[in-house]
Amino acid sequence: MLPLRYSMVRKYKVHFNFSDTSFEPVEVEVNAGDSVLDAALDNEISLHHNCGAVCACSTCHVYINEGMDSLPEITDAEEDFIDRAVNPKINSRLACQCIIDGDLKVTIPDQSVHLGH
Ligand code: FES
Repeated sequence: MLPLRYSMVRKYKVHFNFSDTSFEPVEVEVNAGDSVLDAALDNEISLHHNCGAVCACSTCHVYINEGMDSLPEITDAEEDFIDRAVNPKINSRLACQCIIDGDLKVTIPDQSVHLGH
């Protein structure tokens, strides 16, 4: 049996699919409190993050298809940078600002055409 501090960590599932359909969708298990960016990078999923995850660029832009309600509310700063992303939509978020507290379905835009801002 695991020590209590390990067994208390909640786990969630993040299902990633990709605008670049040459990549197969993948589902990963993550700890509550990780960001969507962490979930991607920890599982060798390429996602730009030019500012180092401090909400100062738009390169970690993703689309949240399911689970938006479990994420922290969007801030003015995040909204400003989403406006600078390529093809922002109503379900756009910055992956580094999405702290996971529930299952999610996420689309990662084509990383070959999303240049940093
Ligand atoms: S990595 Fe720059 S805002 Fe997320």
